[in-house]
Amino acid sequence: MFEGKKVLVTGGAGFLGSDLVEKLLAKGALVVVIDNLFRGKLSNLQAHVDNINFTFIEGDVCIESDLLKCESIHSGLDIIFHLAAVNGTKWFHEKARDVIENNVVGTLRTIESAQRCNARYILASSPEAFGESKQQPLSDGNPMVFSNPAEHQRHSYGASKYLDEVATHHAIRQGLDARIVRPFNAYGPKLLGDEYGQVVAIFFQSIVENEPITLHGDGSQTRSFTWIDDITEGFIKVASDKAQSGDVYNIGSEQEVSITTLQEMIFAIVAADDNWYGGLPLITKGEGYHGDSVRRLPDITNNEKIAWQAKVSLQQGLELMWNSIRSN
Ligand SMILES: NC(=O)c1ccc[n+]([C@@H]2O[C@H](COP(=O)([O-])OP(=O)(O)OC[C@H]3O[C@@H](n4cnc5c(N)ncnc54)[C@H](O)[C@@H]3O)[C@@H](O)[C@H]2O)c1
Repeated sequence: MFEGKKVLVTGGAGFLGSDLVEKLLAKGALVVVIDNLFRGKLSNLQAHVDNINFTFIEGDVCIESDLLKCESIHSGLDIIFHLAAVNGTKWFHEKARDVIENNVVGTLRTIESAQRCNARYILASSPEAFGESKQQPLSDGNPMVFSNPAEHQRHSYGASKYLDEVATHHAIRQGLDARIVRPFNAYGPKLLGDEYGQVVAIFFQSIVENEPITLHGDGSQTRSFTWIDDITEGFIKVASDKAQSGDVYNIGSEQEVSITTLQEMIFAIVAADDNWYGGLPLITKGEGYHGDSVRRLPDITNNEKIAWQAKVSLQQGLELMWNSIRSN
């Protein structure tokens, strides 16, 4: 269904976006990427520069004229995957205002673009749209719970995703074909492991650089880590005709592990590598991030409709990631 379709991927130079672009090009789509390179890297898209079906626009999704440029490349758009956002826990606290502006305004502008083109719209939301909801697994209809913003700034991100969902549902009421995806802790080789990065990549990077690993809090908080291919396959299925406008999908593995277990699994994989002489770093315990959720487990019963469930186990995915790091 993607053959010859005019597809815009916002944030397409980022971790998830660049993988999605690769899959869409393989399916014969005409792909336009807009990214301001705040976090994304051109090297993530290097493989496509000679592909005539691929166009990169360095631009900002909050700026209408940049989106009009994207719309003009192939005279219109059929599908918009809106992934551009400021992601990374440290930013949520340090740059709350920018997170809010970027994520909310970017979503409003890209919804307008979809309305202009009569394009199908896929919003990348987040489980953080549930805030500090204690009710697990996270199912559509569960309460979305945000604490007093005077206490901490964490929910600049989750609340921006909540508002993105509100704006998307509003557009649906006005007739737009739109669907929402909530990816659960994606991981894979291109994931950034710097201080603004995500936990799986941070652990691997600490091992490679032999820097101590700091566990935030006591390490008992759980997550549902999901392999990159499973996540981007999920985006593609949500955009397909199997799903309908108004649908919301949690795209996440049901294998729930604590951060301590994750660290132990990674250490065991590295320790079993006979050709790794770098040793293993020290573990230190640091302060937890304010507002960090204790559990984040997806309810995926909705996903039968699109025949999606995670195929790659955490053990397999971590081994794939270590092998990729070792071969680079
Ligand atoms: N990775 C995950 O596990 C995860 C989980 C839940 C939700 N999400 C959401 O999925 C999307 C993609 O996440 P990711 O992990 O690939 O993050 P990422 O940071 O790697 O990618 C986001 C991309 O958006 C770009 N960007 C940011 N602001 C922009 C703007 N104003 N204009 C144009 N480009 C802009 C960045 O440069 C980056 O390339 C985000 O919306 C994120 O909130 C991701």
